[in-house]
Amino acid sequence: MFALPLLLVAAAVPTKGCEELVPDTAQANYRSITQCLLDEQKVVLGPGTFLLPHGVKMPSNTSLAGSTVNGLMVSRLLLAVPSAITHYVLQVSSDSEVTSVVLDGGEMQKDETCCRSVLSLVGNTSLVTDVEVLGSARGIGILVENPTSHDNLVLRAHVHDCYYGVIFAAGLHSHNQNVVQQGLVEDIYCDAVTFAGHGQVRGTVIRRVGYACGAPSFSTGAGFFCRGNRQGGLVQSSHVSDTCGMSLDVDTCSYLDVSQSTFDGSGYDWSGNHTHCWGMPTAALLDSQMCSIRGNQMSNVRASNNISFSGDPHQVYSQVAAQLFSDLPHGNETIVNFAMLHRPNAGAWPCVGNEVINNSFTCEDCVAYFAGRGTGYAGHSESQPSTFEGNTVLGLSVRCGGNLYAAQEPVCRMGSGWPCNADDYLHPETNFRNDHCSHFAADIYPMSVLPGGLLRNPLPLPSGEVTHKAPTAKPQQSLSAPAAPRWQDTGSTPYGMVFRFG
Ligand SMILES: *[C@@H]1O[C@H](CO)[C@@H](O)[C@H](O)[C@H]1NC(C)=O
Ligand SMILES: *[C@@H]1O[C@H](CO)[C@@H](O)[C@H](O)[C@H]1NC(C)=O
Ligand SMILES: *[C@@H]1O[C@H](CO)[C@@H](O)[C@H](O)[C@H]1NC(C)=O
Ligand SMILES: *[C@@H]1O[C@H](CO)[C@@H](O)[C@H](O)[C@H]1NC(C)=O
Ligand SMILES: *[C@@H]1O[C@H](CO)[C@@H](O)[C@H](O)[C@H]1NC(C)=O
Ligand SMILES: *[C@@H]1O[C@H](CO)[C@@H](O)[C@H](O)[C@H]1NC(C)=O
Repeated sequence: MFALPLLLVAAAVPTKGCEELVPDTAQANYRSITQCLLDEQKVVLGPGTFLLPHGVKMPSNTSLAGSTVNGLMVSRLLLAVPSAITHYVLQVSSDSEVTSVVLDGGEMQKDETCCRSVLSLVGNTSLVTDVEVLGSARGIGILVENPTSHDNLVLRAHVHDCYYGVIFAAGLHSHNQNVVQQGLVEDIYCDAVTFAGHGQVRGTVIRRVGYACGAPSFSTGAGFFCRGNRQGGLVQSSHVSDTCGMSLDVDTCSYLDVSQSTFDGSGYDWSGNHTHCWGMPTAALLDSQMCSIRGNQMSNVRASNNISFSGDPHQVYSQVAAQLFSDLPHGNETIVNFAMLHRPNAGAWPCVGNEVINNSFTCEDCVAYFAGRGTGYAGHSESQPSTFEGNTVLGLSVRCGGNLYAAQEPVCRMGSGWPCNADDYLHPETNFRNDHCSHFAADIYPMSVLPGGLLRNPLPLPSGEVTHKAPTAKPQQSLSAPAAPRWQDTGSTPYGMVFRFG
């Protein structure tokens, strides 16, 4: 009997209201949004900023849309007060849709959990399109949070001003098929995309990221980061530039598939403001297996990427007990582009079974690609080579370890095409085109086994001062920021976009 008046109150939220909600106080906004989602499985936000007291959890089979004016997003959900009640601003469950809305953490998220994020996906077969995600300098922009989540698509998301851009949670497998497509991830303090578990990133632009990872690991943030992930991930037709750390930073991962993408501009220092970013290779596969690097362009043209600036923390560029960097042609003044590396430590994962095919490696007067000692071997003798074929090179390569260079082709001359690598003729035929630096003389101290699927720095971040301090959040962009930024006029087709940068 008590239910009846309650239902009447609920029904009193005017139906029209759910079709174009008007901003009110934070509590009232929260009530009407959740009520519309419950009653009508649907809410359309009118123009304006909808303050929220804490995050909104969308039930399954619901939709939330913002308004647009001339194609510009004009509706914003903004966390208005410090809150630890939810770890998200918007959480999307199954069979739901979100479109045309700005999601802003407002630097008000105070929960101390693993998963502080602006947009969290926890269900299956949901679709998020045309969203802008920002405002979490100590959290994640977009988090695919649940290891059972599958078939979610995030299309044309613009993620910026967060600590991490996009994270695929540990435990996600390749059959889960969660996709971020045609995104723009920029101005991120640490890593732009982290594959703790499997995810797919297609046609996405990443730039200006990684200078403020801070404590506890002060290392430099990357475009794509993968550590201890056995499920891999997929990167296709994407473009990474101006990263403080490497554009592709892979350590102890398997089955990462990277194709048709461009990687350049590692070691970006914001016009000299962040010199801890100096000394970066473009991309590295460290102790990783069964990865595929196909048809990419990688280049390293920054003089500040002289490797002496970043040092050799894993001791991968010289024989054990030899002078640092002595496997590199210019020693500590070498610039390294693409590197496949193995640690000399007992217990390090073998770096084996990768394929590096049809890439273009460019860097004048530096090492266009480098294979380190011990790569291609599981243990000291068992050979499990990686394959290098059809790579074009400006610069030179250094080939330690024991890998296969156009192995099926007996003769590779200068100018021989596929399957020869452009610089095969410069390497000893007597040694299957490997140089003579196959092994470390001895394993050094054992390293502990990496647990699966790591972030660079786990959340919650330690409170207190960070050295590479994240700047205070920029003034919020005006609501007239274009909803359809640069990536829409690129003549793109869904799985093969063409980038045209001025
Ligand atoms: C999903 O919502 C629609 C209305 O928005 C409704 O017709 C449909 O029955 C719902 N499906 C499920 C499985 O709840
Ligand atoms: C998503 O799908 C998985 C596997 O089919 C299932 O276990 C899980 O409960 C689903 N999640 C939700 C929120 O329905
Ligand atoms: C470098 O720092 C100066 C002084 O803080 C600032 O004005 C400038 O915009 C910064 N440059 C870049 C590219 O961030
Ligand atoms: C580079 O190596 C040379 C000798 O090989 C050494 O004298 C010099 O100090 C080193 N420079 C740096 C920056 O490590
Ligand atoms: C590398 O750094 C050293 C020391 O700062 C410098 O002398 C050298 O010219 C640099 N080399 C390149 C290739 O920039
Ligand atoms: C590499 O390029 C050659 C020649 O263009 C082509 O035949 C081959 O299929 C390509 N291989 C891969 C794995 O893309």
